[in-house]
Amino acid sequence: MGLPNAALLKETNLKGKVAVVTGSASGIGFAIAQGLSRMGAGVVLADLNPEAGQTALGNLRNSDATAEFVATDVSKTHDVRRLMEVAIERFGRIDILVNDAGVQHMAPVVDFPEDRWDQLIGVMLTGTFLCCKYAVPHMIRQNWGRVINLGSIHGKVAAPYKSAYVAAKHGVLGLTKVLALKVAEHNITCNAICPADVRTPLVEGQIADQARRHSISPEEVIQKIMLAPAAIKRMLEPEEVASLVLYLCSDHASGITGSAMDTDLGWNAR
Ligand SMILES: NC(=O)c1ccc[n+]([C@@H]2O[C@H](COP(=O)([O-])OP(=O)(O)OC[C@H]3O[C@@H](n4cnc5c(N)ncnc54)[C@H](O)[C@@H]3O)[C@@H](O)[C@H]2O)c1
Repeated sequence: MGLPNAALLKETNLKGKVAVVTGSASGIGFAIAQGLSRMGAGVVLADLNPEAGQTALGNLRNSDATAEFVATDVSKTHDVRRLMEVAIERFGRIDILVNDAGVQHMAPVVDFPEDRWDQLIGVMLTGTFLCCKYAVPHMIRQNWGRVINLGSIHGKVAAPYKSAYVAAKHGVLGLTKVLALKVAEHNITCNAICPADVRTPLVEGQIADQARRHSISPEEVIQKIMLAPAAIKRMLEPEEVASLVLYLCSDHASGITGSAMDTDLGWNAR
């Protein structure tokens, strides 16, 4: 799977637009940053990991992208305010916000460490709220904007070991609907994307954990456990999620808001 499809590439022109993408040093966030920059947008990469962020920035700039990296912990108000300030100082505007930063921890509720609960809710739910709070005023001023939040199939259905993740992602879907209602009059849409398993470092970690727990091979984890509820028996690639983000940023999607769009390999068809 390479670039988002050719027809979409031809029709989506984001020249002059500026995107802030959190969690963009890795996985889905990097593919989204790459896709937006290939459509002509200036991109502000934001991530907790400064080394990976600088590497991601180098990779984007190698392809002539106009981009910056800002080391950011999205769960911290101070960092998020600074992120938006740097975006405005460097590019003068913020048109697109993609809330992608995410973490995972798996354990039964009774064993779930409180500090990991706070971290997961802090990054994925509070972080999404803070980035919306500090980016959306710029979109309102410009009378145009796109907010895209990474939900998950686990924003819609549960999994027994993922309490904080499932709670955070259900919260993200609720927040998406609230913001969509409030900002529609300013030509701003707010949507969530809900992927099934995407091949990224976050999921590679889960596969390794499950292989250890069940004493089976990583390939067996993928086929027998992860893909069991899916109709299409393969993992998604990050670029497939990026394609949906590009579509939501395009004029074709100006009538879509408050939605939680599935790219779920048929998970929710059952
Ligand atoms: N991979 C999947 O199967 C899948 C499926 C559905 C939804 N998602 C969602 O997509 C998003 C990206 O996941 P991924 O699989 O690409 O993961 P990933 O681990 O490859 O990337 C996540 C990035 O978020 C960054 N991050 C973590 N904590 C942060 C913080 N406090 N502040 C800023 N950045 C922080 C990490 O450093 C990392 O670069 C997440 O929100 C995840 O829940 C992933």
